[in-house]
Amino acid sequence: MSLKFWKPGTAGPGSTLDRATEVEGNVVPSAPAYSSLSIQSQRERLPIFKHREKLLYCVEKYGVIIVVGQTGCGKTTQLPQYLFEAGWAADGNTIACTQPRRVAATSVATRVAAEVGTVLGDEVGYTIRFEDVSSKERTRILYMTDGMLFRETLVDPLLSRYSAIMIDEAHERSVYTDLLLGVLKKIRRKRPSLRLIVSSATLDATAFLEYFKDSTDPDQATIVSLEGRMYPVEVAYLQEPTPDYVRMAAQVSWNINLQQGPGDILVFLTGREEIDRCLEELSELIPTVPKAASRLIPLALHAGLSTDEQLRVFEKAERGTRKVIISTNIAEASVTIDGIKYVVDSGFVKIRTFNPTTALASLSTVPTSVASAIQRAGRAGRTAPGVCYRLYPESVFESLTHSTPPEVTRIDMTTPILQLKSLGIDDLMKFEWVSAPPSETVLRALEGLAAAGMIGEDGRLTVIGEQVAECPLEVGIARMLFMSKEHKCGEEILTIAAMTSVQDVFIIPDGAPGALAELERRKFTAEEGDHLTLLNAYNAFTKYGRSSGWCKSHALSFRVMSRAVSIRGQLKKYMQRFKLPLDSCEGDARRLRRCLVSGYWRNGARWMADGTYRSVRGNKVLHVHPTSVLFTRKPRSGWVIFHEMEETKKTQIRIITEIEPDWLLDHGHKYSTIEKR
Ligand code: CDP
Ligand code: MG
Repeated sequence: MSLKFWKPGTAGPGSTLDRATEVEGNVVPSAPAYSSLSIQSQRERLPIFKHREKLLYCVEKYGVIIVVGQTGCGKTTQLPQYLFEAGWAADGNTIACTQPRRVAATSVATRVAAEVGTVLGDEVGYTIRFEDVSSKERTRILYMTDGMLFRETLVDPLLSRYSAIMIDEAHERSVYTDLLLGVLKKIRRKRPSLRLIVSSATLDATAFLEYFKDSTDPDQATIVSLEGRMYPVEVAYLQEPTPDYVRMAAQVSWNINLQQGPGDILVFLTGREEIDRCLEELSELIPTVPKAASRLIPLALHAGLSTDEQLRVFEKAERGTRKVIISTNIAEASVTIDGIKYVVDSGFVKIRTFNPTTALASLSTVPTSVASAIQRAGRAGRTAPGVCYRLYPESVFESLTHSTPPEVTRIDMTTPILQLKSLGIDDLMKFEWVSAPPSETVLRALEGLAAAGMIGEDGRLTVIGEQVAECPLEVGIARMLFMSKEHKCGEEILTIAAMTSVQDVFIIPDGAPGALAELERRKFTAEEGDHLTLLNAYNAFTKYGRSSGWCKSHALSFRVMSRAVSIRGQLKKYMQRFKLPLDSCEGDARRLRRCLVSGYWRNGARWMADGTYRSVRGNKVLHVHPTSVLFTRKPRSGWVIFHEMEETKKTQIRIITEIEPDWLLDHGHKYSTIEKR
């Protein structure tokens, strides 16, 4: 296969690299060989090690330190250990380190437990939603998602069990990172002994310093900059835009393997579906590999994998083989894989967005920012010079925005605002936002909360609002649990809440033809739609299965189903605490669907003659996702609600259930009256 689309004079697989852009960074001469070293000497070889004493001194002297350093220099794995070794976890105190992503929290905790020499969950542990591998008594270093630490402020407003908190990957500006920074600033006024470390991969640290600086007290905050080890990375662009970057990514990886020297390949795509498709494209090419070339070992990296599968990407490639890791944005900064020499960057990323006019939230695939593109390229130059292939023309790079806006400014704030109110922050204007959300978004959130009966006329939380804030669920799903009392279907709604909290329930087992898996899946199909289909699958699993063999023959993921069982158990405890009955709807699907509308009332859509749908609010054109049981069928009533919306080239909706339009009015009517006020 020849790739003639590379711009002459820039780098392409097989072409000589006679013109290239270098990614910024300090260049150091020699590459250390890590793998055969003891853990201790590996730790001492990390760039952060030289700064150990300075860091510990600053933590002692300043309340807030902002640490900036190249990805891979050791911030996440080493800093909490330094604090631990210096005694910050004495007297039963805990050191927390937050991550915006679940996968990062689990994989880093696993690594650090090995470095410390402890069983995961003992001295070193992690906590992510619905999964706690830590011990209140014994865990001294706790990795957790930022959402989990924020949630902890609801029960322990001063976060009193922590002596030091590291807010990691702060440059990502995830919604809970921002909220935590705001809350921690408040906490530190009441508890100045608490140390805060804000760590960031990029150099936008001054904004954080400004935020924490106090003109009356110069010892409030400081910046510590860690020089990074960084080799030059040559950047190549496509000459023409590609219509299919997934396919292109597979081809470019393939050509790198045939034509370039040793070194692993890291490919950035936007999500699981693209990753799977890229793996398929590669597997079609693999039988054609010439004898002389390395054997290519394709590996996926995304949040839907089991911990073991995730850890496989860190294993060194055997002699004569080359890893190609096909990853989501997770490998951009939160996890570091040694041995990457080639980066293939699709130039896209999947982010959450919200349109305040239609009150519709969605997942959108958008071009990356310049900051992201540079960060991704940098992953090729950690231990030796590398090459980054951007799958778009150079002119596109020049048109990219500088950085992705903080989540707070672009997502649905209904759930976070409910939680802020539950923390007693009623006046949202007075909260010290790092970046404030747009007023229209705040207004939509407040309207939604009022329509759902969670805040009263005075803007304060109602009793239900307080309880919903405690549930580890989005407001809409939590509301369904509460409304199930009225519709007498608690048993089933509980299952649906658990099943919509997991992803990738249905799978195509290895070696099985797709069509057969499709047939198996149809056995669970409920006429009414996907929510009831998920319910059927769950009930069959608990009744007959609970084994991996049974799951395999029914095209279900055993791991995901088991997780759903565990989540359901945890949610059941909330229902019991709030005295919500676990009635069964006894097969009355109407009651159940009515209850679903109480959670999804904002996500209504109407069927059109051309097979597409229009959203109730905003009249947006929606396509049914091919995995839906309603993909090929018109709903009898012509109306549906949906769980989520995703925007790529077109807008698709997933997990869809047929409803009666009147049911929307129960909620929608109230909703629109409020809107007109
Ligand atoms: O947080 P930062 O990007 O500064 O670096 P880190 O995540 O602490 O990683 C430091 C080093 O640990 C990396 O360069 C990897 O070599 C190594 N590491 C690893 O081998 N396996 C892991 N699961 C995590 C890190
Ligand atoms: Mg890190």
